[in-house]
Order: sequence, then structure tokens, then C-alpha cells
Amino acid sequence: MVQLSSIALLAAMAFEFKSVLAKPAVNPFRVDLSAKISHLELLVKNTDLPSKPLYPGAGPEFGLQLDLLRDLKTEWVEGYNWTQQEAELNQLSQYTTVIGDQTVHFVHEKSQHKDAIPLLLLHGWPGSFHEFLPVIKPLTELHNISNGKAVSFDVVVPSLPGFLFSSPLPLNSSDADTAELFNRLMVDVLGYPKYALHGTDWGSEVGYRLYESFNSSVRAAHFVFAPFTPPFPQDIADNNITLSDSQKVTLQRSVDWLTIDQGYFQSQEFKPNDIGLALYDSPVGQLAWIGSLFNRWSDPRAGTGPSVLTKTAILTGVSLYYLTGSFQSSVWQYAHNANAFREYSKPPTDAPMLWSSFEYNIGLWPREYVAQIGNLVEYKEHDFGGHFPGLDNPPALIEDLRDIGLYFEF
Ligand SMILES: *[C@@H]1O[C@H](CO)[C@@H](O)[C@H](O)[C@H]1NC(C)=O
Ligand SMILES: *[C@@H]1O[C@H](CO)[C@@H](O)[C@H](O)[C@H]1NC(C)=O
Ligand SMILES: *[C@@H]1O[C@H](CO)[C@@H](O)[C@H](O)[C@H]1NC(C)=O
Ligand SMILES: *[C@@H]1O[C@H](CO)[C@@H](O)[C@H](O)[C@H]1NC(C)=O
Ligand SMILES: *[C@@H]1O[C@H](CO)[C@@H](O)[C@H](O)[C@H]1NC(C)=O
Repeated sequence: MVQLSSIALLAAMAFEFKSVLAKPAVNPFRVDLSAKISHLELLVKNTDLPSKPLYPGAGPEFGLQLDLLRDLKTEWVEGYNWTQQEAELNQLSQYTTVIGDQTVHFVHEKSQHKDAIPLLLLHGWPGSFHEFLPVIKPLTELHNISNGKAVSFDVVVPSLPGFLFSSPLPLNSSDADTAELFNRLMVDVLGYPKYALHGTDWGSEVGYRLYESFNSSVRAAHFVFAPFTPPFPQDIADNNITLSDSQKVTLQRSVDWLTIDQGYFQSQEFKPNDIGLALYDSPVGQLAWIGSLFNRWSDPRAGTGPSVLTKTAILTGVSLYYLTGSFQSSVWQYAHNANAFREYSKPPTDAPMLWSSFEYNIGLWPREYVAQIGNLVEYKEHDFGGHFPGLDNPPALIEDLRDIGLYFEF
């Protein structure tokens, strides 16, 4: 008897050991980029900017305003403290793992509560895990939602391949590969057979591929951005859709984005090496290219409550790209995914889809359009916030993500 059970125990241990071995190792990770900070500071200080705008009457429709760039640059030199920012980032539990040939960096903040819903947060360009900083810890805390249920989340925030500490994809790879990689991260590495996800910008493209291709593991999806081109006003009118005043503001921004703000997109899709190498060792150049979008794509009230999109947040976003040397590989995201914005039909999944629309986002997708690409159960509108709601309307994003708890089933 004794002998038998110890053999069984040994066998069980061997089995455990084997499955542990089969799983990619997870290594604790801390952001430590301080060695490169003096080089950055030197370059920023020694970068000249014009003393006055070339055409003082030329507004933001012509791109970045010199005053804004000068203010951000001055702040970088005089008011910004990388050490403090790095310490804040390191308050999040971070790891790296190697899946196949890919190194994946991710935040993993676990809830202290049982039945926490695993939640994958997917950033885009020019974002990073940093844009979710204000929402990660609150989501791990227990909170009562509208149906009286107490909800909390185990939050996982990977860096997209080629961003910050995640290795770039090989040539000829795309978001379909990223989706497979992240599903493996959630299911095989972290042991979450069922999870929910949120996607913004390119993260919504990756998230949508997960939603349509992994219907047994992705059991709820929340988006603020769609993987298809937003409709033009005529198309919306032809479909007899009436817009709210707030949606009309978003529609104008949507038209602007589609017509006079595609320069960066074309450059990064067709010639990623041009801008990628031009700005590789130019922190002020990256600040101009990226900071301009953080500013233009956000609520004009950014920096006033509840927004935490401050100069400091923009500088941290840019510092992370610069200090990791990943600006070039980040813009390759566009080249890898030239076929991304395509036509979609309803995918083979019954998983609920939730949507949040922020007034100052750069695309408007009315409810009727979103309903065509998934099992839409909730569509919310917010009159504050833009393309980076994790930074310029975190309370609304947190509240909407908690609604996943209304629908998620283990
Ligand atoms: C920067 O922040 C760190 C950590 O909070 C602090 O120790 C240091 O004194 C700060 N440096 C400056 C110049 O304020
Ligand atoms: C949730 O509601 C229950 C019952 O109404 C209450 O006892 C509990 O304190 C609430 N929890 C939180 C986190 O607010
Ligand atoms: C990438 O795809 C193109 C077109 O299909 C092919 O010609 C090329 O050899 C591929 N490159 C690599 C590195 O696989
Ligand atoms: C929109 O309304 C017009 C007039 O009532 C109707 O002829 C048309 O079929 C409607 N279009 C759609 C797409 O419902
Ligand atoms: C999940 O996807 C598979 C393969 O596409 C399909 O056969 C199945 O019906 C889908 N399940 C649901 C619930 O839609």
C-alpha cells in the first residue's frame, strides 16, 4: 500500500515536473534604463529648435506647433525626473518570457481576490504598457458592479513585439502571429484557459484577431478602436444613423484623421526604415513625432481632471521608446500589417463584445457598425477623453472594463 502510493506520488511529481519544464520560464523583470539617461539628457540639451514659428498663423492642421515642442523640451531638461518615473513603473510586477523565438515583456498584477477575471490589456502605437498605468492597480481591487456582483481582475499587459522590451517579429510576420503569441502567454504560460481582453489602436487589431480566432479562450472583449476603417459621414447618413452631438465631434475628428492625418501612417507602413533610422538617436525628434500625436489625438482638456495625460506622461512614453532603442521596430508595426484595416464579417464566437466611445478619439464607429463584427452587448459613450483613455479618462475606462464582469463566465 505504502509503496504503491509513493510510486503514485513519484509519478505525479514527475508529471508535474515535466509540465513545468514544458512551460516557458517566466523571469522577473525591472525597468533599468538609467545607464542611458545621461546620453539622452545631453542630446536633448544640445538640440536646437527654431527661435520662432516659420508661419505664426499656421495652425495644428499643419502639424506640431513649435510652442508645444519647446514647452515639452524645456520640461524634459528642467522638470523631468526619469529616476522617479522608473520607480513608478517598477511598482508594477513585470516579467519576461520566451515563447518560440519571441521574448515577451509583460506586466502581471494579480488580484488578491478569488474569482478574479484574467484581463489582457493591449496597447498600440505610439503607446506602451505605460498608457495603462492609472488603470492596472484599481482593476485588481474588488469592486461592486451594477448587478451587485463583486468583480476584480488579474491584469496582464504585454509589450507588443518590437515595443520596448519585447523582441521584434521576424520579417513577414503580422498581428495574426502576435495574437497566437499572446494567447499562448495567457493560456500556456500564465495558465488562464479563459480570459477577457481590451484593445486600443493596434492593440484592438491584435485583440480582434484573438477574439475571432480563439473563441474558447477569449470569453469577452472590450474595444475603444475597431480593426476596420471608420465610416465617412455619407455612409453614416445612407444608413439612416442619427448621431449625438458628442458623436458629431468625434466624426469630424474621424474625417480629419482619415484625410489629413495619414502622413505618419503611410510613412511607417511603406518606408518604416526612413523615419525609424532618422529618429533612432534623436530624443527630441521622437518627441516631435510622437508627442505631436499624444497632443493632437487627446481631449483638448488633457491635464485637467480626470485626465492624467500630463507633459510628464508624454515624456515618459517617449523616453521608453528612446531609451529601449525600439522606435524603429515600433514603427515596423505598420509595415508588418499592411492588410490590417479590412472588411470583416461576424466571427465564429459567441463571446460578448463591449465598446466604449470617447469623444476626442480619432475614429468614430457608431453602434450599428460595431454590432456587425461581434456579439455586441454594451456600447457606451463618454464626452471626455480621446485616443489614450487610460491616460485621459481612466475612471471611465476602469468602470467600463469592470462591466466585463456582467457577462464573463469561467
Ligand atoms: C529624482 O527622483 C528620485 C527618486 O524619487 C530622487 O531621489 C531624486 O532626488 C530626484 N532628483 C531630482 C533632481 O529631483
Ligand atoms: C459590495 O456590496 C456588499 C453588499 O452590498 C458589501 O457588503 C461590500 O462591502 C461591497 N464591497 C465593496 C468592495 O464595495
Ligand atoms: C517575405 O515574403 C515575400 C513575399 O511573399 C518573399 O518574397 C520573401 O522571401 C519573404 N521574406 C522572408 C524573410 O521570409
Ligand atoms: C434610409 O431611409 C430611407 C428613407 O426612409 C430608405 O429609403 C432607405 O432604404 C433607408 N436605408 C437604410 C440602409 O435603411
Ligand atoms: C469556435 O470556432 C470554431 C472554429 O471556427 C467553430 O467551429 C465553433 O462553432 C466556434 N464556436 C462558437 C461558440 O462560435
